[in-house]
Amino acid sequence: MNAKSTKLEEDATTASLLGKRATKIPTPPPITEHGDAKIIAIFNQKGGVGKTTTTINLGASLAEMGRRVLLVDFDPQGGLSLGLGVNAHSLPLEQTVYYALMTPTANVDSIVLKSATPGLDFLPANRDLGTAETTLGAEIGGQQYLKRALASLRDYYDVILIDCQPTMGQLTINALVAADEVIVPLQCEYFALHGFIELKGNLDKVKNFLNPNLKLIGILATMYDKKTSHNRQVLERMLEQFPQDVFETIIAKTIRFPETTVVGEPITTYATSSGGAVSYRRLARELIARGGAR
Ligand SMILES: Nc1ncnc2c1ncn2[C@@H]1O[C@H](COP(=O)(O)OP(=O)(O)O)[C@@H](O)[C@H]1O
Ligand SMILES: [Mg+2]
Repeated sequence: MNAKSTKLEEDATTASLLGKRATKIPTPPPITEHGDAKIIAIFNQKGGVGKTTTTINLGASLAEMGRRVLLVDFDPQGGLSLGLGVNAHSLPLEQTVYYALMTPTANVDSIVLKSATPGLDFLPANRDLGTAETTLGAEIGGQQYLKRALASLRDYYDVILIDCQPTMGQLTINALVAADEVIVPLQCEYFALHGFIELKGNLDKVKNFLNPNLKLIGILATMYDKKTSHNRQVLERMLEQFPQDVFETIIAKTIRFPETTVVGEPITTYATSSGGAVSYRRLARELIARGGAR
C-alpha cells in the first residue's frame, strides 16, 4: 500500500477521532477452498443511511480479495441492481429474486447475474418483490423462504450480502432469518442512537424467536463528515455505549458515491484510489479480521 492510501486509511477510522493510532489490518491470505458462504444482512430500518452503497462496495472489495461474492438485492426499489448497472424494473419476474424466493423449484443459479467486477455476482430485484410481503406473512414457513432460496448457492460462494429494504416487514425478517450476521450502517445524525436501540430490540426478537445464531458483527459509521460537530458527537456516544460493536473503519461523506450510482459500478473500479474505495477495502479486511467473513 502506498503512503497516500495509508494516510487515507488512518484518517477514516474511529481511532483518529479518539486521537489514537489505527489498527494495522493485514491483507488476508487468498482463499484456496471456496464455499460454505457466510450470509450477512446489511440492515437498518432507516432509509438513506448507506445500506445499498455498503452492500455494493464491501462486496466489490471482498471480490477484489479473491472472494466469491453474491449480493442479494432485497429492496423492491432495485437500487442495488441499478448501482451495478442493471435496471431490474424491465426484467421479467422469472429473472428476479422474487421468483427465487417464491418458487421452491426455481433454478436460482440461472437468475444470478454477473457484474462487471470479476467475482461479484448479484440477484436482481424490482418492484414485484414488494408484492411478496403479504404472501410471506400468510404462509407457513414464509419467514424461511429466502434461507431456502439461498441454500443451493451457499456451496459456491464465500460470502453473500443481503441489501435490506428500510422497513421491518416480512422481507427484512426473511433476510435476518437467512443471515448469520448483521452489519448496521449508521448515519451519525441526531436520532441515530435512539433508532439503533430500537433496531437492536428487533434483532433480539429475531434472535429469540427465529434465528438464535444471528450475530451483530458491526455498526458502520457512514456519510461521516468530520467537520460536522454533531456527527462527531453521535459517533463518540456510539463508541461509549457500544465500544465492541462499532467498526474502526469509518466511511466519509463524499460526492463520489452518488456518482457511482450514475455510472452503475462500485467505487473500487470507478475511483479506485479514492478515499471511499480505500475505506471500503479496509472495511472488508476488518470484517475478515473480526471473523465476519473468511
Ligand atoms: N459515504 C457517502 N457519502 C456521500 N453520499 C453517500 C455515501 N454513501 C451513500 N451515499 C449516497 O446517499 C444516498 C443513500 O445511500 P444508499 O446506499 O442508497 O442508502 P440506503 O440503501 O440505506 O437507502 C445515495 O444517493 C448514495 O449515493
Ligand atoms: Mg437501499
